[in-house]
Amino acid sequence: MAYNLLKGKKGIIFGALDENSIAWKTAQHCYAEGAEIVLTNAPIALRMGTINKLAEEINAPVIPADVTNADDITNLFVKAKEHFGGGVDFILHSIGMSINVRKNIPYTENNYDFTHKGLDISAISLHRVLQIAMKEDAINEWGSVVALTYIAGQRVFPSYNDMADGKAMLESIARNFGYFYGVEKKVRINTVSQSPTRTTAGSGVKGFDGFISYAEKMSPLGNASADQCADYCVSLFSDLTKMVTMQNLFHDGGFSFTGVSQAVIEQMEKE
Ligand SMILES: NC(=O)c1ccc[n+]([C@@H]2O[C@H](COP(=O)([O-])OP(=O)(O)OC[C@H]3O[C@@H](n4cnc5c(N)ncnc54)[C@H](O)[C@@H]3O)[C@@H](O)[C@H]2O)c1
Repeated sequence: MAYNLLKGKKGIIFGALDENSIAWKTAQHCYAEGAEIVLTNAPIALRMGTINKLAEEINAPVIPADVTNADDITNLFVKAKEHFGGGVDFILHSIGMSINVRKNIPYTENNYDFTHKGLDISAISLHRVLQIAMKEDAINEWGSVVALTYIAGQRVFPSYNDMADGKAMLESIARNFGYFYGVEKKVRINTVSQSPTRTTAGSGVKGFDGFISYAEKMSPLGNASADQCADYCVSLFSDLTKMVTMQNLFHDGGFSFTGVSQAVIEQMEKE
């Protein structure tokens, strides 16, 4: 059901690779709520994924940008401003990648070239996007920026590997930049800490099936789906959440504050 919560708003959505992507669902939900969208992803993802299908469906241009490349990001903001005839009201940062995870390199043996690349893509990219947005004055007053994160940024989930460090840094950048952008232009910046979700990035984590079913058993409401995450992002882009900033917001069915659930105890008693 749509409520026109984003009527008249314009936004940039990073990270829609295929129809499982959280960014894909968020773009669909924002469009349904009345927003106009510009889609972006890394050039290689544009070739490998199916973003054009989404672009057609929601009538959005696709502007390629590798988030590690400042020129690409500048070009993205310049083109988006041309397209919209002005700045944007919201941005979704839905990007994560670890070469150490992909190559199955254990945390204690991480290759630092891979670590640097992973941190650059998964965390520093948020800083880069915000820095360039500020320089280009690309976000309107009372704009809203959301980046997606996972609880491994705060608690240990061994197989999440160096992505955990990336998420801790991402959450910290949201907090710190949130201060400066808030003072400068009343732009709010938050991270949404989502339940494990079956996507390309998610499934790359070792033991992902176990992860998902454990979280499902632990969470009083069960795991939050990608569609539900999209709804939450819509609310954060809307005018109903104007005073929420610099927060890490859990969207996880209660997982983060549950010590142990009855379902998990019963499972343990079977062993
Ligand atoms: N799936 C989960 O279980 C889960 C849980 C919590 C948080 N998250 C976070 O949600 C976000 C979206 O991931 P997803 O699960 O939808 O998976 P996904 O694989 O669909 O999305 C990841 C995106 O990052 C993009 N990307 C990678 N390198 C890039 C680069 N250099 N420049 C620009 N874009 C680049 C990919 O092209 C892809 O579109 C990530 O930050 C992820 O860590 C996912």
